Amino acid sequence: MSDKPVEGIRIYGDPVLRKKSRKVDTLDAKVRELVDKMIIVLKKAKGIGLSAPQIGENLKIFVLEEKFLTGIEGVKVFINPSITEKTGKYLDEEGCLSFPDIIASIERAQSVKVKATDLDGNNFEMVVSDLYARAIQHENDHLEGVLIVDYLSPLRKTLLSRKLRKLAQGVCNES
Ligand code: NI
Repeated sequence: MSDKPVEGIRIYGDPVLRKKSRKVDTLDAKVRELVDKMIIVLKKAKGIGLSAPQIGENLKIFVLEEKFLTGIEGVKVFINPSITEKTGKYLDEEGCLSFPDIIASIERAQSVKVKATDLDGNNFEMVVSDLYARAIQHENDHLEGVLIVDYLSPLRKTLLSRKLRKLAQGVCNES
């Protein structure tokens, strides 16, 4: 949630952010290269999470900076993720690297169960809550072409319309 866009990150208005991502079939060199790039960009942006469409690839992959979620150093890679259970609800503010300088209040499930594959091809399943669950729901939305603006109330969307229009026009460095 930096104010300035980070190089390599696609910004709101880019059609790649609205496309549904496709499943990863094989964990080949190209996929590994993409994940490496995602991790580099995530670290550079000091973000919590990043999805493949945000760097221009419509593939079902996202990465999360665990340091910001659990305090443990490391980036967790989710390939072909699917959220299989959601429980509870809570409202909190959320930002997105593709929307510099915009914050949205979004109601999300408090806890989720997620299944995914790691870079070694191992399937895993985890149950997480609060910020970790929020981050997973946010990144998973990206793989469906869903963005934080889709959750804004009509009033808030109107209030932000000028800012959103500027982002979409590529004029986003004036805050
Ligand atoms: Ni995002």
